[in-house]
Amino acid sequence: MTSPRLPDRLGGLAFGGDYNPEQWDEPVWKEDDALMRRARVNLATVGVFSWALLEPEEGRYDFAWLDAHIERLHANGVAVDLATPTASPPPWFTLAHPDALTVRPDGTRLVHGSRDTYCLTAPAYRTAARRIAAALAERYGDHPALALWHVHNEYVTLCYCDHTAAAFRVWLRSRHGSLDTLNEAWGTAFWSQGYTSWEQVLPPRATNWHRNPGQALDFHRFWSDEVIAAYREQRDAIRAHSDRPVTTNLMLPAYQNIDLWALARELDVVSSDQYPGSPGVDAAADVAFHADRARSLGGGRPWLLMEQGTSTVYDGDRILAKDPGDILRHTLGHIARGSEGALFFQWRQSRAGAETWHSAMVPHAGPDSRIFREVAQTGEAVARLGELAGSTVSARVAVLHGPDAWWALGVDGLPSAELDYPAALERAHRALWDSGVTVDFAHPDDELGRYPLVIAPALFLLSDRSADNLRRYVAGGGTLLVQHASGYVDDRLHARLGGYPAAPLREALGIRVEEYRPLRRDERITLSDGTQGTAWSESLHAEGAETLATYTHGMLTGSPAVTRHRFGTGQGWYLSTLLDDTGYGALVARLLDEAGVGAEAPGLPPHVEAVTRHAADGRRWRFLINHGTEPVALSEPAHDLLTGGSLAELPVGGCAVLRLT
Ligand code: GAL
Repeated sequence: MTSPRLPDRLGGLAFGGDYNPEQWDEPVWKEDDALMRRARVNLATVGVFSWALLEPEEGRYDFAWLDAHIERLHANGVAVDLATPTASPPPWFTLAHPDALTVRPDGTRLVHGSRDTYCLTAPAYRTAARRIAAALAERYGDHPALALWHVHNEYVTLCYCDHTAAAFRVWLRSRHGSLDTLNEAWGTAFWSQGYTSWEQVLPPRATNWHRNPGQALDFHRFWSDEVIAAYREQRDAIRAHSDRPVTTNLMLPAYQNIDLWALARELDVVSSDQYPGSPGVDAAADVAFHADRARSLGGGRPWLLMEQGTSTVYDGDRILAKDPGDILRHTLGHIARGSEGALFFQWRQSRAGAETWHSAMVPHAGPDSRIFREVAQTGEAVARLGELAGSTVSARVAVLHGPDAWWALGVDGLPSAELDYPAALERAHRALWDSGVTVDFAHPDDELGRYPLVIAPALFLLSDRSADNLRRYVAGGGTLLVQHASGYVDDRLHARLGGYPAAPLREALGIRVEEYRPLRRDERITLSDGTQGTAWSESLHAEGAETLATYTHGMLTGSPAVTRHRFGTGQGWYLSTLLDDTGYGALVARLLDEAGVGAEAPGLPPHVEAVTRHAADGRRWRFLINHGTEPVALSEPAHDLLTGGSLAELPVGGCAVLRLT
C-alpha cells in the first residue's frame, strides 16, 4: 500500500522541478530557499544525476550532503521527489565493468563522459542499480519530506552487446518455443537466413542490407520487457523500505522504445516529460498531445508533468525561446488535461556542464528576469488550483495507439518512408484539438464502446485480436475511421493475403485494398470532392461501402478514395490517402458531426482551448486558454480561480480556470 496521493501530501497541486544543488554552494542554496518560497515551489526532484556523489566508490555511500539538502528543503516547505541516479553511472563503474557500457548496432562500444551510457541487460549494471535504489530507500524511505520516488530518468538507451544477445535469446525461446517457430515468424526462408542453433541468433545489429523485420520487431518487444523488468526491480527494492508512490518519467510524445501501456501499469502514478519542437500554437497543440497521451496511459487517472522547459524548445538543431506567457499557458494546458501539477527541468540553470544552455526556472540572469517572473506567476496560479486535485477529464473520442504498430513502421524495407507513425498520431490529435474536442488515446485491444468516435491512423500492424475488436466496435454502434496502410500485416509482420486490411476489419469497412501505390515525393493528387492527397494512394474496391470521394488521376481515376460502410449499428470509414490539413480537418469535422460529438465548449472562436476537469462529487472546472489573436467575450461571466474574481472576457494569450456551476 502506498501512502496518500501526492496532492494530499503537498496540500495542493505540485509545482517545482529538478533540483541539482550539487552544482552550487552555500550562498546559492540560501538564495534557492528564498526563491523557491517566492515561486511557491512545493516539490523538488533531487538526485537524478547524483550517482558519483552518492556512491563515490563501489559499495561506499556518502549520504551526508543529500541529508543536508533534504533537511533544508523540508524546513523550507518543499517536499522531495527522490530519484535513483541510475541513468548516469559514474566513471568508476564503467571502468570496473566495461562490459556494461552501451554497444551500438555497428559494434561500437561507447565510453563514459556523457550520460545514459550503460547496458540494461548487463548483470553488473542491474546489480548496481538495485543496490543503490535499495540503499536510498533504506535511508530516506520514511523521511517526512519524501513525497514520491522517481526511478531512473527516461529509459531510452538501447544496447546491442553480447549480454543483450544472450538475454534476447532467452526471451525468444520463451516467446517462440522452438527455432522452427522463430524461423517461420521471421520469414527466414528468404535470403538464406534460417537459424539452426540459438547461438546464431543476434540482436538486429548493423547488416549490409535490410535487417530482418521480424527480428527488429521482436527486439523492440524484448527490450520493452527488459526495461519493465529493470524498473520493477528498482521499484520493488524501494517498496521494501518505503510506502511512497513510485514512478519513472516517460518521454512523450514522440519516443517509443517501450510498450508504454505495459510500463504504465507498473507505475503508481504516470509521470512524463514534454519538450515541444516548435513555438506558438504548434507548441500548445503538442502540450495537449502529450498530456492526453500521459493521461490515457494511466487509464484516465491523474498523472504528473515531471519535466518541461521554461524558455526553450528544441527545433532541430537550435533552442528557440518560448513566447512570453507560454510558461503559464503550457503549465495550464497540462493541468487542464489531468496533471496534478507541473515540474520543470531544472530549477537553476547550470553554469557549467553539458546542459549549460538549457533553460531553467532561475536563468543565468538570476531572479531579476522575465523568466523567473513568469515562473513565480505560474507558481502562484498553480497554488490557486488546489481544489482540482483528484479530478479527472473525460473524452468522447479516442485515437488508437499500439506500440507494435509504431515499431512495425520503423522496420527496414517498407514501401514508403512517409509512413510515419508518430506523425500520423499527432495529425489525428491535432485535427481533433483544432475542433475543440478532448481526446483519449486507446490501445487497439481496449474496450472502445464508450467512445462514439474512434480514429485509427497508421495501424499498419493489426493483430487478429485487434481486428476483431474493431469489427465488434463498429457492429456495436461505433463510428470508426481507419486510415491508409492499415491492417497490412499481422503481429508477426506477415502480410495479410487476399487484400488488405485484415479480414474482420475489411468486413466492417466494406472494402478491399488490392494494391498500394505510394506517391512520388511532393506529388499531390486531387480527389473528386476537391481535397488533395499526398504520399500514398490505394487501389481499393468497395464491397458494400459507399464511395464518398474517388481518385481523379491516372490509373486510379474513378476508383474509391474515401468510403463509408454502415455495418451493424455503426459505421466504418476508410481514407486511403494522406489528406492535406484542410481536407483532413473537414473529414474529421464531418465524422464528429456524424458521431454526435460536439466541441467541449461550443461557440468559442478557433484557437481557444477549452478542457473540463470533473470531480467525483460533480464539481467541474473549465480551463480556457486563448491562443487566438482576438479577445474573447464569455457568454456568462464565471468565477475564475486564477484571479479569484468574476471573468467576462479572456484577453489574447490569456488563461482562466472557471468554476462551473
Ligand atoms: C530530459 C531529461 C533532462 C534534461 C532535459 C533537457 O529529457 O530528462 O534531464 O536533459 O531533457 O531537455
